[in-house]
Amino acid sequence: MDNKNIVLIGFMGSGKTSVGIKLARAFDYNFIDTDLLIESDYGASISNIFNEKGEAAFREMETALLKRIVKTVKSTVIATGGGMPLNKENSKLLKMAGTVIFLRASKETTYLRISGDTNRPLLAGDDKSTRIGELIDQRYPIYVEASDHIIDTDNKSFYEIIKEVEQFILIR
Ligand code: S3P
Repeated sequence: MDNKNIVLIGFMGSGKTSVGIKLARAFDYNFIDTDLLIESDYGASISNIFNEKGEAAFREMETALLKRIVKTVKSTVIATGGGMPLNKENSKLLKMAGTVIFLRASKETTYLRISGDTNRPLLAGDDKSTRIGELIDQRYPIYVEASDHIIDTDNKSFYEIIKEVEQFILIR
């Protein structure tokens, strides 16, 4: 095991944070979450940032943070916001930051996990099922391209997911 970071990407509700915390414990790594870092750096919730400054400003904050991470962070599991890989620059920076794992979930599982949430600005509105479906169709090809490895998480325990990450990292 080298000290290369492990970067988790995936859609909202794919388990990047919850898997990431457990993964960090299993690897004896640190853990960071880019949404939480942005919230603490700017002293505002993601929803407030979207409302007050707009999505484009949030995306710039993500890129600035990622540049800082590439320079300073080691031996860390990095959970990212679901939109992080969407621009090409971020996608490159993610690969520079570490081994990128895409936690993939089906539309149905995603809907079950996040349809009740009120803190995700991109899901504001009534027809969450359609919105989730459309965003997943747009984004999954981008996540595939941005990742070194894909893990299908539907019906898997944290333990199984962590084992899969370990196996992938060990054979690299
Ligand atoms: C976003 C996902 C969110 C957060 C923001 C935008 C997205 O993070 O960064 O609301 O574009 O998918 P999670 O994936 O942790 O919910």
